[in-house]
Amino acid sequence: MKALVLSGGKGTRLRPLTHTTAKQLIPVANKPIIHYVIDSIVKAGIKDIGVIIAPETGQDVKDAVGDGSRWGVNITYILQDEPAGLAHAVKTAKGFLGDSPFVMYLGDNLIGMEIDGFIDEFNREHCDALILLKHVAEPQRFGVAEINDKGEVVRLIEKPKEPPSDLALVGVYVFSPDIHNAIDVIKPSWRGELEITDAIQELISGNKKVKSHILDSWWLDTGKKDDMLEANRVVLDEMIHSDIKGKVDAESKVIGRVSIDEGSYIENSTVRGPAVIGKNTVVRNSFVGPYTSIGNDCLVENTSVEFSVMLDGSKVIGIERLEESLVGKKSVICKDDVPHKALRLHIGDDSEVRL
Ligand code: TTP
Repeated sequence: MKALVLSGGKGTRLRPLTHTTAKQLIPVANKPIIHYVIDSIVKAGIKDIGVIIAPETGQDVKDAVGDGSRWGVNITYILQDEPAGLAHAVKTAKGFLGDSPFVMYLGDNLIGMEIDGFIDEFNREHCDALILLKHVAEPQRFGVAEINDKGEVVRLIEKPKEPPSDLALVGVYVFSPDIHNAIDVIKPSWRGELEITDAIQELISGNKKVKSHILDSWWLDTGKKDDMLEANRVVLDEMIHSDIKGKVDAESKVIGRVSIDEGSYIENSTVRGPAVIGKNTVVRNSFVGPYTSIGNDCLVENTSVEFSVMLDGSKVIGIERLEESLVGKKSVICKDDVPHKALRLHIGDDSEVRL
């Protein structure tokens, strides 16, 4: 069994962050999303991992992930020259995948379960494809599956107006090499992409065994800002343990599960967990509320910040209350001391400011 992680794509919905960073490298609880994906694949015992990269962000992904030696696995990078669809990504990786079955994992998806049981089910049931599904509230936003009472997939539809079920396709799949034949016959969809749903539908039409597994833990697709904040909340809730390596002065209080990395300094402040603070960050005269991740080399001064994510090198100064915010790398949010009504902004493309 091999694995294919999709880390190409455009990430348009997460602009402006994705102007300078690959979506899969945006940190959740201070760790890049793609690291959680690879952790999960490695835990399932897979040693050969291909990573699809895009020309614009591929080098950053390579720098952040490396050759796999830190996980004791082999990582092969596969350049997809344009984001022409998930099935196109598989086609591009055909040389790497050969005739091996493989797990395909979208590099911006996080799920609250290990995937080894899912792979066992694929092997045990001799499937040609095993797809992961989740009951969702708004199925019309997703690829939706219709299944029979044996859990076999009868039909897949992309973003249906009238969904036949509330079962959305989660971004983790297991395929036999038969998927390549299916991809060879499908045509690009109305949006010009080779869709993996069409390839799976092709397997179904050819009477191949396509089964489903319904996920009962959480699933987070980190496509948009609110998804990122929700991912941060869930991961902080489940994974953060108290671990204080930085300094906390006598006037400060650290309450609940809080991780503070080396070189950081908490001065006359309260940090209420779950929260994580990276390296060499200063929190001064401030309140850092629950569900907040602050990266490396940040400054939080005379501020209250809650349910937010601050990326490396960002500064928030003199803000009475900042919440549900995503602050990009090296960004500065600062309230001047002089009372005046004018706003002075220096905002990058695709930014959003709510006052
Ligand atoms: P999407 O979120 O569907 O696409 P995107 O990353 O281009 O984002 P947006 O809609 O905001 O523009 O992609 C799901 C995952 O698959 C994501 O990790 C990117 C990856 N991907 C590829 O590697 N190659 C592709 O051709 C496509 C479409 C996506």
